[in-house]
Amino acid sequence: MSHNDKILRPATSPQTARLFYALWPDTRTRIALAALQAPVRGRKVAATNLHLTLAFLGSQPRASLPLLDSLLDKLPDQRFMLDIDSYGYFSKARIAWAGPSSTPDALLWIYNALLNALGEAQIACKCVGGFRPHVTLARDAERMEDNTGTTPAVRWPVSTLALVESVPIQGGVHYQLLATRTLA
Ligand code: 2AM
Repeated sequence: MSHNDKILRPATSPQTARLFYALWPDTRTRIALAALQAPVRGRKVAATNLHLTLAFLGSQPRASLPLLDSLLDKLPDQRFMLDIDSYGYFSKARIAWAGPSSTPDALLWIYNALLNALGEAQIACKCVGGFRPHVTLARDAERMEDNTGTTPAVRWPVSTLALVESVPIQGGVHYQLLATRTLA
């Protein structure tokens, strides 16, 4: 696991952790993604929290963390470019997001490999409804009717996959990186 950088921190809950896997942006991409929030009306996601979820696991025993960490090693080792070139809106969840207008094969390979690895490890994933790659920009958001002429353009050179813990904090949530995998 030489390419995994462990950032294990003190536990916030002794037995369980609320977990997800994500593409984690580099600083330049994070700044560019944050700029996409400008025309959005709603409860904006903190810039430090912007990410693209691969798989949401929900609450898992902390005892599973070494196994979940090791699954990062089973994913295809290939950097790729992700063009965040469209805005979208999930009406039911009232989420405003930005995402790729088409999903690159490299992202699908990573997603499918992750689902297979979770299946083999018998870890349940709340992945119903298929994969809709998106970066949530705001929650409780207004539909983005005013922005139909606005095209976001962020070229994200994807190089970091992360196992992340969602930690509730006062007034929001903190996403704690538990392990990262740097793609070759
Ligand atoms: P999102 O990807 O639409 O923003 C941590 O909560 C991350 O996991 C968020 O990015 C969140 O939504 C995503 N996620 C996916 N399914 C979820 C679920 N059933 N409950 C909470 N978060 C979920």
